[in-house]
Amino acid sequence: KFHGEADTDFILPPNKEWAKNIRAKWMKKVSDEVSVAPIVVGGEAILDREVKTAIDKSQLKEGVVCGKYALATKEDLERAVEIAAKDVDGWRSLSASERQKILGQVANKMRAKRGDLIGVAAAEVGKVFFETDVEVSEAIDFLEFYGHSARYFDDFKNLTCKGKGVGVVTPPWNFPIAIPVGGISAALAAGNCVIIKPASSAVLCAYELCQCFWEAGISKNTLQFVPCAGSLAGEHLVKNEKVDFVILTGGEETAYAMLKSRPNLFLSAETGGKDATIVTAMSDREQAIKNVIHSAFSNSGQKCSATSLLVLEEEVYNDPHFKKGLIDAAQSLHVGSVWDFTNRLGTLANPVDGALKQALESLEEGESWALAPSYADENEYMLKPSIKWGVKERSFCHHTELFGPVLSVMCAKDLKHAIEIVNATGYGLTSGIESLDEREVAYWRKHLKAGNLYINRGTTGAIVERQPFGGLGKSAVGSGRKAGIHNYITQFMNIEEVAEPL
Ligand code: ALA
Repeated sequence: KFHGEADTDFILPPNKEWAKNIRAKWMKKVSDEVSVAPIVVGGEAILDREVKTAIDKSQLKEGVVCGKYALATKEDLERAVEIAAKDVDGWRSLSASERQKILGQVANKMRAKRGDLIGVAAAEVGKVFFETDVEVSEAIDFLEFYGHSARYFDDFKNLTCKGKGVGVVTPPWNFPIAIPVGGISAALAAGNCVIIKPASSAVLCAYELCQCFWEAGISKNTLQFVPCAGSLAGEHLVKNEKVDFVILTGGEETAYAMLKSRPNLFLSAETGGKDATIVTAMSDREQAIKNVIHSAFSNSGQKCSATSLLVLEEEVYNDPHFKKGLIDAAQSLHVGSVWDFTNRLGTLANPVDGALKQALESLEEGESWALAPSYADENEYMLKPSIKWGVKERSFCHHTELFGPVLSVMCAKDLKHAIEIVNATGYGLTSGIESLDEREVAYWRKHLKAGNLYINRGTTGAIVERQPFGGLGKSAVGSGRKAGIHNYITQFMNIEEVAEPL
């Protein structure tokens, strides 16, 4: 039986001390020597390549470098694919239980390195400790769970499930621990070799993770590590016919570009969302505020599952206490250095740009700031929560994923209208309702189009096995299979049925 991994209770004094030790190790100083993470191709750690620098945005003014990494060339990528294609017979010939055992050992490594994984995500991505802590638990869950999945599909005696071959995993930076491990562990459990192309804002995190896999016994041919420019990966990994599948978590444009460049590609992509919570007049409004604030602003809204739209039934929209409560709660979230444990939100992983910049710098007709955007400590990465009021249907903020701490508030005549507003985004990842009326909830469940539906709770933090995660519409491109459910790994297998005369 599968059991989810427990998170750390940071209230306990020994765990507080442990957190301080992580900080002492990972909060580097200007004068610290930082090592360079190599690319790892064919068992070799290669350093003599172009080197990039990662800055700790909590210590931006001081210009503290938290690490450096080497970038793969197109020749490295092509060699990685050749090596993986040659190595795959060895890894997939292991029995499902042998693969499960090794993945279990990787999980043990991650248990032992929980502190380092929290530290590197704080330094490189600006994620606060307790947010990465739950990611480490989720990563351990993926390793244990997909190990079970491999065993599960091995038990059908007339079926042979074999890895497809070579998988490329291209994770995002916003869950720099859980999502790469989810992709790698699913592909490995299914019997494939893996090439990981980490997100450029989370390379050091991915390198820490890969070390857990290698130290646990996965060979450096079976799992190769190739940070590189996205365009290079598109040209020399995705388009390479020896790559059997790609696991992507990223923008839908990236997913469609991959399919355009190689129409026969097997792609499993989770592609973001424009997630909403509806609050009806029949809700517990205090509870709704608490849930919405957490869903909209945890990890500074940099979650595909974040509540980005708040759709209020007219009575709630016009309730001044609700509006004030929402603003007060948003303002109570301290933003700042990840190394100061009183901060609930850390730094953005990337400079404000694109859709987020447009949303912050413009107001459309009818819109006003209930809480205007501002920055803490004059640091361009320390963006405080903001609330845009009066967002209209078909406007930019109604339809565009922002991936930052901006909540767009809309007014709906009734629940039916609220659901129409939400479904009109064309995405369908997570969605929430706040209502204590069972008939309203049943109506919403029937008509709302999303993969993960949350009733009277936050819209983030899906748990492996309990809440398989994945969306509909523009939120899923390619196979669209949910993660954290046993059949996720079968998409990376060739399944042979064997029949004999009776
Ligand atoms: N799986 C992540 C969540 O549910 C994205 O928040």
